[in-house]
Amino acid sequence: MSDPVIAAAAEIVQQADPAAVQVRSFFDEATFTVTHVLSDPASGKAAIIDSVLDFDPASGRTSTSSADALIAYIREQDLEVEWLLETHAHADHLSAAPYLQEQLGGKLAIGRHILTVQETFGKIFNEGTRFARDGSQFDHLFDEGDRFSVGSIPAIALHVPGHTPADMAYVIGDTVFIGDTLFMPDYGSARADFPGGDAHVLYRSVRRLLSLPESTRLFLCHDYKAPGRNTYAWETTVAEQRSGNVHLHDGISEDDFVAMRKARDATLDMPRLILPSIQVNMRGGHFPEPEENGVSYLKLPLNRL
Ligand SMILES: [Fe+2]
Repeated sequence: MSDPVIAAAAEIVQQADPAAVQVRSFFDEATFTVTHVLSDPASGKAAIIDSVLDFDPASGRTSTSSADALIAYIREQDLEVEWLLETHAHADHLSAAPYLQEQLGGKLAIGRHILTVQETFGKIFNEGTRFARDGSQFDHLFDEGDRFSVGSIPAIALHVPGHTPADMAYVIGDTVFIGDTLFMPDYGSARADFPGGDAHVLYRSVRRLLSLPESTRLFLCHDYKAPGRNTYAWETTVAEQRSGNVHLHDGISEDDFVAMRKARDATLDMPRLILPSIQVNMRGGHFPEPEENGVSYLKLPLNRL
């Protein structure tokens, strides 16, 4: 294989025992987000991928009921959290990572290209010098091909940009947490029209992911159901995506995908929570510095996005 990082990832997948890689998923219907807890039963170590902090934009109130359900599961299973992984700076929900970290520990990590996202949105939100654009809000920044582990389960980070410049996929044992690249086969792919997004780049990232072994389990960040499907779903395989993904099954060319993606993206509204989500998530899930009255505020840039 001409792609050494994918070759290394494929080897991790092939050598894993699926029964020894446990995944429990939690669905947040308010934002259609799936949070996954991957654990290694042998060591009791775990990783939490893409958590949700509940947020009511009308009142500006956050709450932790979704995060508390994760905490209850982790405690009941007696797991030790090693990693709080973010696949990207989400535009549709706030991350609960700082709250989870305070309660459970673990290292908060995202892709190195979050610096690009911080730079882009630092400008859009006219953040002053107090907003550091060096990724220091996170404990670890992954580069393409970085190896890590969850307990005894080997893992490797893949940079899979396109939806945003910073998207990562985490290969852990025989599972991959693919963030917003592909959705379920009947729903297709993530949009590529946010600042720094690129449908050509997304196509190439997806082809890399789909060159992993056919049995590789893929876990998604979102599901919206699909016409004719009445239940939410978030787990699929490389084989299922290659044969049946409506946007990106085998045989669809880059140009055809890009034309379809651009036409479709032109019809999509901005996500309801994009402005609050980005301002919080580019800070690793932390709220902006409180003002002198002790309250944190979010901005609403007019006619900018
Ligand atoms: Fe996203």
